[in-house]
Amino acid sequence: MLNFSYYLPTHFVFGRGAEEKAGEMTRQAGGTRVLIHYGGGSALRSGLIGKVEDSLKRAGVYFTALGGAQPNPLASKVYEGIRLIRAEKIDFILAVGGGSAMDSAKAMALGAVYEGNFWDFFCGRATPQAHLPVGAVLTIAASGSESSNSAVITRDETLEKRGLNCELNRPVFALMNPEWTCSLPPYQTACGATDIMAHVLERYFTNETGVDLTDRLCEAVLSAVIDAAPRALRQPGDYDARAQLMWAGTIAHNETVGVGRQGDWASHKIEHELSAKYGVAHGAGLAVVLPAWMRYHLAHDPARFAQLAVRVWGCEADFRAPEVTGLAGIERFEAFLRSIGMPGSLKELGGKSEDIPALAASTRKEADGGVGNYTHLFPQDIEAILRIADK
Ligand code: NZQ
Ligand code: ZN
Repeated sequence: MLNFSYYLPTHFVFGRGAEEKAGEMTRQAGGTRVLIHYGGGSALRSGLIGKVEDSLKRAGVYFTALGGAQPNPLASKVYEGIRLIRAEKIDFILAVGGGSAMDSAKAMALGAVYEGNFWDFFCGRATPQAHLPVGAVLTIAASGSESSNSAVITRDETLEKRGLNCELNRPVFALMNPEWTCSLPPYQTACGATDIMAHVLERYFTNETGVDLTDRLCEAVLSAVIDAAPRALRQPGDYDARAQLMWAGTIAHNETVGVGRQGDWASHKIEHELSAKYGVAHGAGLAVVLPAWMRYHLAHDPARFAQLAVRVWGCEADFRAPEVTGLAGIERFEAFLRSIGMPGSLKELGGKSEDIPALAASTRKEADGGVGNYTHLFPQDIEAILRIADK
């Protein structure tokens, strides 16, 4: 196990009525002038924004609102928010929604107190030193942004989708009432479940040894999602299933299951190209990339794939041929993704075979031109993975 230093500053309020704490929690966090930031309107239609506003009023906190964070949120909205924050002397941002609203809010929080262009942080030209605090009211179990150190923004002109990991990105609180996720369309529920599983699997595939505790925590989160996602799809109002998914989404991406091990993250970087280029949901893109990445890596460490197959997918172990067991696990994962309505190929996502070289070329890489830690992938590897996905 690797040494680690782990500090999670997010205060979670979980369960029915959590949103009613918005005013009190904002005041406690020092917020006096709040920007409520939300997405395309689902949180308005459900009545959640109204509840949050009532709570802020009760706490005597000034607020203004800005909607329009679109799925795969855009830099142009971040600039608009920064202008509003400065004009209104906002000192706290409350994101109401999913990863898109939260990431857009996080980028505004960094950009509003920075003299340069906030994009500097996302393209690696500058490191954030300060921010405005952000709180989150969650409406979809998916990205884990409610306590992750990440934000992912797409630049309008170039469609570059770039993530920024820094500790300032972690929200100070997350209000998590599973009831608000019951209005999610089935497709978004399934995309969210896929993203949660991907966050776990990106950590699960590590070369680190002596990580049995976190292996088993990862396996528990995966098993809970495999159980809860079909229940939420069958019965959208199933509070218990929604609650399992919501907490799974949070712990999948805030390092609870990732400390002491090095994650991979190539699948995420490859997927970001797909969601930027084809405008697809992040989870749907992962449903296509991740199984292909797994097939490409099966031979790297068959025993780890076999472990996953046996412990999570209930496959029978073939002790003489762990790669056979590992492959059976990958096939069960693919079948599961299909069963919850996820696409199974690049074509089903709207992707084209002829785009593969360009997608591999534009995937964000490290200084040496490679990406990923389980193995380090270069453009020809990324192309090979996308060709597996292009079936
Ligand atoms: O925009 P509205 O109208 O709210 O509709 C949204 C949107 O269309 C809808 N929705 C959300 N909650 C709903 C609802 N509809 C009905 N009822 C509800 N309760 O669902 C759609 C998707 O919302 P979005 O916020 O885009 O989903 P998600 O949470 O999956 O976020 C995706 C974004 O997060 C990034 C992704 O790349 C993508 O840009 N990620 C962020 C991460 C992070 N910050 O740590 C990590 C992830 O790996 C991911 O990359
Ligand atoms: Zn993700």
